[in-house]
Amino acid sequence: MDEDSLDLDVVPLSKKHKRTDFSCGNVELDSYIRSQARQDSNKYCACPFVMIDRKSDSAAIIGYYTLSAATIILSDLPAEFIKKLARYPAVPATLLGRLAVTQQYQGRNLGSVLLMDALHRALESSRQVASAAVIVDAIDDTAVEFYKRFDFEPFLTGALRLYKPMIDISKQFDSSAIAP
Ligand SMILES: CC(C)(COP(=O)(O)OP(=O)(O)OC[C@H]1O[C@@H](n2cnc3c(N)ncnc32)[C@H](O)[C@@H]1OP(=O)(O)O)[C@@H](O)C(=O)NCCC(=O)NCCS
Repeated sequence: MDEDSLDLDVVPLSKKHKRTDFSCGNVELDSYIRSQARQDSNKYCACPFVMIDRKSDSAAIIGYYTLSAATIILSDLPAEFIKKLARYPAVPATLLGRLAVTQQYQGRNLGSVLLMDALHRALESSRQVASAAVIVDAIDDTAVEFYKRFDFEPFLTGALRLYKPMIDISKQFDSSAIAP
């Protein structure tokens, strides 16, 4: 496969996408996109986004992620992050519930591209509906290592849940502050 021949885009999951062909090597993540993602989308429980290649088959799913609204209980976070937040018992967040790349395309930097797309989308949304951090639920310990490479930090509770402050995401994209 020639890297230059790809014309990637990330779009909301729709009926036309071939969900049953997706296979990332993790049964739970495969089963989610095949049989659950459309229902979650229809019921406003999660927004699934899919990476496609416009040059070949734009119905084929190269990778996907989901975003939802979430809440962080302040006592679950390390003290240094709490200091940066308003003193409420709980603060709003964006949950990156799932992220996966189909096996054929793994190891080509597309997981990173997909993650950056998710962070950028979360940042843009937080300018309309505030969100203090992106939370990820890593599927296993290997996935935790993947997210740590992108400066996600573990919660005090539960080793598979990590967060990245929106203020850091904002700086990463060299954007102006979240508040106008
Ligand atoms: C994890 C996953 C999304 C990574 O996608 P990918 O396209 O293969 O990853 P990339 O090519 O973008 O890799 C980016 C970097 O992360 C590293 N990396 C990739 N997968 C990793 C993993 N599971 N653990 C630790 N590091 C990982 C790569 O070595 C690469 O590092 P480099 O820039 O120093 O070379 C993909 O392998 C996948 O879908 N796996 C199954 C599902 C899964 O584990 N999802 C995790 C989120 S729940």
